[in-house]
Amino acid sequence: MTSSPDSVHGTPGDAFVDVEYEQPDQAAPAAAHRALAAVPVVCSTRHAWARVPAEPAPAERERLKARARELLKAKNAVMVSHYYVHPDLQDLALETGGIVSDSLEMARFGRDHAAQTLVVSGVRFMGESAKILSPDKRVLMPDLDANCSLDLGCPVDEFSAFCDQHPDRTVVVYANTSAAVKARADWLVTSSCALDIVRALKDQGHKILWAPDRHLGGYIARETGADLLMWNGACIVHDEFKAFELEALKKEHPRAKVLVHPESPADVVALADAVGSTSAILNAARTLDATEFIVATDNGMMHTLRQQNPGKVFIEAPTAGNSATCKSCAHCPWMAMNSLVDLVRVLETGANEVLVDPALIPRARQPIDRMLAFTAALKAGQPVGSLVPHIGAA
Ligand code: 13P
Ligand code: SF4
Repeated sequence: MTSSPDSVHGTPGDAFVDVEYEQPDQAAPAAAHRALAAVPVVCSTRHAWARVPAEPAPAERERLKARARELLKAKNAVMVSHYYVHPDLQDLALETGGIVSDSLEMARFGRDHAAQTLVVSGVRFMGESAKILSPDKRVLMPDLDANCSLDLGCPVDEFSAFCDQHPDRTVVVYANTSAAVKARADWLVTSSCALDIVRALKDQGHKILWAPDRHLGGYIARETGADLLMWNGACIVHDEFKAFELEALKKEHPRAKVLVHPESPADVVALADAVGSTSAILNAARTLDATEFIVATDNGMMHTLRQQNPGKVFIEAPTAGNSATCKSCAHCPWMAMNSLVDLVRVLETGANEVLVDPALIPRARQPIDRMLAFTAALKAGQPVGSLVPHIGAA
C-alpha cells in the first residue's frame, strides 16, 4: 500500500503523478493463469503515485555531487544504483567505489561490501533485499516510496491464499516483490537467473507457482517447457512496448539488432535478437555484431549503453502511445524518484532508513540465499544439481 503524497516531504517544486497499475481481481477463480494453457483472469486497475523531483540547475547539481562524494566518504557509505536511475546517481556510484548493476548484482554487492551504510538508488524491493541480506547494516534510500507495479500488484495476503490453494507447487518469486511475499517463497529469481533456476527445478520434477510478472513467467515457460501457474502481474514500463510499431521501426533500421527485457509482452520478445536482464542487454550491445540497436527496456539504460559503446547508436523501442497516452513512456516513474537532492539529504540526516520486520528476515532470506548460492555455483562452473532438491526429497 502506498501512503498519500501529502504524507511525504519532497522538495518544494516537486510534482506528483498518478500511476495506474493492474492487480488480479480476487473475485476471479485462483487469480492466476497457466503459462502454457492461459485462462484469462480479470485484473482491476489500481492507482498509485510517484513524485517527480525537480532537476537542479547546473551549479547546484555540481554542488550536490561534490557534497554527496564528501558525505559518502565521511559516513563510510557505499552507493548501489540500478541502471534505470538518474545518470548522476549512476555516475556517482561508479566514481565513489559503488556499483551500477542489475538487481541480482545489487543484492550480491550490498551483501559482500564492507561498508556499514548502503545507499540504494532504485526501488523499494531493492532496498529491502539489501536489508534482508545485511540486517546489521544501515540501508538508506533517496525515496522510500519508490515503488514497483509488480510489487504493488502482488499483496501478501492474496498471494498467500494463492499459495495455500496449490501446496503441491514450488513457489518461485521474482525479486520485484515485498519482503513478506519473499517470505512465502521457496526460491527467489531475477531476470538474469530465472531461466537457469526454473530449468533446474523442472529437471528435478518441480511444478511451479510463479509470481508476479506474467510476461517474464510466459517467457520462462516457453523457453524451459516448465509447468508454471502464474500470478497475473505486469511491469507498467515493459508492458507498454508494442510489436506492431517495433516491426515498423525495424523496417526503418534494417541493420539494427533488437534488445528486449523479458518483462515485455511475448510478441515483442519474439522480435528480439537478444532477450535478457539489464546486464544481459548491456552484454549483447557490447558483443553483437552491429552498430545500431533498438532497445525495449527502461530508457534509463541508455546512459550506460551509450557510455560503454561510443560510436554505436541506441534507439528506444516504441511504447503504447505518445506522452498523452502512455503510462510510463519507457521510464519507470518510481526509479525517477531517486534524486541528488534526496541522496544528499539522507546522507546528511540518516533519514529514509529501510526497515524490514525482523521476524520476517530469516524466512525471507532463505529464497534469496538459495538464488545467490545457485548463481555463485553457476559462475564458478560448479555443479548445481545438489542445490536443487528432487521433488521427492525433503
Ligand atoms: P533487472 O534485474 O534486469 O535489473 O530488472 C529489474 C527491474 O526492475 C526491471 O524492470
Ligand atoms: Fe517495477 Fe517495472 Fe519499475 Fe522495474 S521498471 S521497478 S519492474 S515498475
